[in-house]
Amino acid sequence: MPFKRDPSRQTVGERATSWLIQRPRRLRATATLREMVAETRLDARQFIYPLFAVSGQGRCEEIEALPGQCRRSPDLLVREAEEAWREGVRAVLIFGAPDSKDPEGREAANPAGSAQVAVRELKRALPELVVMTDVCLCAYTTHGHCGIVDENGAILNDPTLEVLADAAVSHAEAGADVVAPSDMMDGRVGAIRRALDGVGLTDTAIMAYSAKYASAFYGPFREAVDSAPQFGDRRSHQMAISNRREALREARLDAEEGADIVMVKPALSYLDIIADVRAALDRPVAAYNVSGEYAMVKATAARGWVDEKAVTLEILTSIARAGADLILTYHARDAARWLREQ
Ligand code: PBG
Repeated sequence: MPFKRDPSRQTVGERATSWLIQRPRRLRATATLREMVAETRLDARQFIYPLFAVSGQGRCEEIEALPGQCRRSPDLLVREAEEAWREGVRAVLIFGAPDSKDPEGREAANPAGSAQVAVRELKRALPELVVMTDVCLCAYTTHGHCGIVDENGAILNDPTLEVLADAAVSHAEAGADVVAPSDMMDGRVGAIRRALDGVGLTDTAIMAYSAKYASAFYGPFREAVDSAPQFGDRRSHQMAISNRREALREARLDAEEGADIVMVKPALSYLDIIADVRAALDRPVAAYNVSGEYAMVKATAARGWVDEKAVTLEILTSIARAGADLILTYHARDAARWLREQ
C-alpha cells in the first residue's frame, strides 16, 4: 500500500524535520548520481591474474579446491592469457609447479622449468601482457618449506637468498617483467635486486610480498602446487596475524631494499593493513585476494547461498577502497567481464 499523506496534518516544512538540512540520500537518488559520486572505481587494469604452470603440452588439470582454476602447460596458459587479455586483464602472475623436487629447491632456477618456459611463451605470444612470476622455494623443496632447512628443520635465511636470487634471475632472463618474492626471508628483495642488476636486468621490477601473514587462507593454493610443509608451519617467517605495526616495518624495509611494488596478503581479513601501507608508503600497493577467499565465494555461490557476481565485486571494491592499487585475484577474468557488462 503506498503511503498517503493525511492532509489534516502539518506539512513537512512546518513539522519538526525543518532541522534536517543534511540529507546524504540526495546523492543516492538515481543510478547516474550514484555513479558520479563513486569514490572507488574498479577497473580490470588493476587486476593481476594468478596462473599455474606445468610442463608438457595440452595439459589442463583442474584444481579441486579452486573451482574454475587449472594447472596448465605453456600452450594452454597462452590460450588462457589471450582470453583474459581480450576481456581486459593486463597482467598475470605465474606459479611454477615442477616435475621434480629436491631439498634445496634447485629446480626453482632451472631455465627450462615450467615457470620459465611459460614466461617465454607468454611474452612471445602477448608481448604487451605484463608477466609476473612468484619467486619462492616451497613448491620446489621436498619438505615444502620456503627455504633451505638445516638438520633440525630450521630455515636458513642467508643461504636461501642465493637460491631465490638465482630463481628470480632465471625468470627475468625468460622475459618476466616483474618478479615477486613470496618467501618472507629477510633481505630477499635486496639480494634479488643486486642479482638482477648484476646481470644487467636493471629494468625488471620487483613486487614484494611485504606483509605476508601466516594465514589459513592459503589452503587451496597448497593443493594447486603441492607445497604444504611436510613438518612444522610457516610461522618462523610469515607474519603473525595479530600484528599491524610490523607490516609497516616489513613494507618499508622492502621499499628501502628496492621493491617497486609492495603487497599485502591475504586481502580480505587484512583491509586495515592495506590502508596503513597505502598511507605510509609512496609505492603502488598490491593486495592478494588469496585462494581461500576465492574458494569460500565459489563454495557458497555453488550452493546458491550468495550471489557470486555481487559478492565478488563487493569484495574487490572493498580491497580497492582500502587502498590497493593492484589486486591479485583468481576472479580476474569473471570480474573483468562483469565490469564490462555493467
Ligand atoms: C608461496 C606462495 C603461497 C601463496 C602465494 N605464494 C603459499 C604459501 O605461502 O603457503 C598463496 C596464494 C594463495 O593462497 O592464493 N610461498
